[in-house]
Amino acid sequence: MKPRILIVDDNESNRMLLTAKMEADGYDADVASNGLEGINKAEGLHPDLILLDVMMPQLDGFETCRRLKAKDETRYIPVIMLTARGELEDKLMGLEVGAEDYIVKPYSLVEISARVRSLLAVRALYARLRESEKMAALGEMVDGIAHEIRNPLTTVGGMARRLYEAAQEDVHKRYASTIMSSVKRMERMMARIDEYKGILVSTLKPGDLNAVVEQAAKEAALLLEDLVDSTGKRKSIVINTNLLPDAPPVSIDAINLKMAIFNVIQNAVEAIESNGAVTLETVLLDENTLALKVTDDGVGMSEEFVKKIFHPFSTSKMTGAGLGLTISYRIIQDHNGVVEVESREGQGTTFTIKFVLTPGALVS
Ligand SMILES: Nc1ncnc2c1ncn2[C@@H]1O[C@H](COP(=O)(O)OP(=O)(O)O)[C@@H](O)[C@H]1O
Ligand SMILES: [Mg+2]
Repeated sequence: MKPRILIVDDNESNRMLLTAKMEADGYDADVASNGLEGINKAEGLHPDLILLDVMMPQLDGFETCRRLKAKDETRYIPVIMLTARGELEDKLMGLEVGAEDYIVKPYSLVEISARVRSLLAVRALYARLRESEKMAALGEMVDGIAHEIRNPLTTVGGMARRLYEAAQEDVHKRYASTIMSSVKRMERMMARIDEYKGILVSTLKPGDLNAVVEQAAKEAALLLEDLVDSTGKRKSIVINTNLLPDAPPVSIDAINLKMAIFNVIQNAVEAIESNGAVTLETVLLDENTLALKVTDDGVGMSEEFVKKIFHPFSTSKMTGAGLGLTISYRIIQDHNGVVEVESREGQGTTFTIKFVLTPGALVS
């Protein structure tokens, strides 16, 4: 998704100029022509950054900024004030009402671009930090719960087995065996949690992403053999690979990364209801970034659901533990990688995993 910039300025030609520049820089631009409209749009659109003119009739930029910073929904959106005069008083006023930055008019568009880019980068880093802290806290909690559950679960499983063996009536046998299979399911979940602990440390060394992808694909291909659709018919799924020849090396822990990629491919395969294709592609996105794209033409997900898929226990499957992507996320993070998801319901999904190349890795 493109970052969204909200431009608040009463002057139409300024709005047009800034809109054109922001769009040329690859952002989505929205405009508001006064302070109140700006506040409304900030609340409704959740922009990633606001360019805010100071001199506006009625509600001026300072007051608009003060109100934005007073509300929880809009407080964390960075604001760049566009001040007409370079007077110290104005700059101080801007910072006092909580603006993150200010630019003095007449401004150069190049300067605006640079300031926007740097504030967005800070904001993205901050979001990543918050996300990773959240994941770490969740991980600890899950581990703690698993620890508490393990012993009683063994007892429940053992007692259910005894009941099963001692049962005289069929109906009691059925009850007991239902308990037993539920216990099995929970034990599988425990196993995944142990796996999660196992991946907590990745030891990185330069390696070949393509080789890891191929290995993960090979293991995923084994899954295909016993996948059936809802009518019990075997699914017909192909896994295609399109790997960049002579891909530059990246820092990897081959075993952990294979697991991370395998989980993503497994989900892709499971998202296909009866027949379809999963494509694995490695590409250079720019001189610093090697990416793996995993694309499927399966059921897809809503935008709302995509936000939750990396959280533990988030699953849409009857037998899923909802931990596969939690594990993948953690591993990818330990690789200093980034994972992005694009999905359309009924059409399919693409996971893009981006790796930073070691400087000089790419010989041109
Ligand atoms: N490629 C995909 N297409 C559609 N849904 C997906 C895809 N990948 C993940 N999901 C969704 O994310 C959820 C979480 O995935 P995961 O953490 O691996 O747990 P699990 O596979 O055990 O459910 C899945 O249940 C599914 O709803
Ligand atoms: Mg999964």
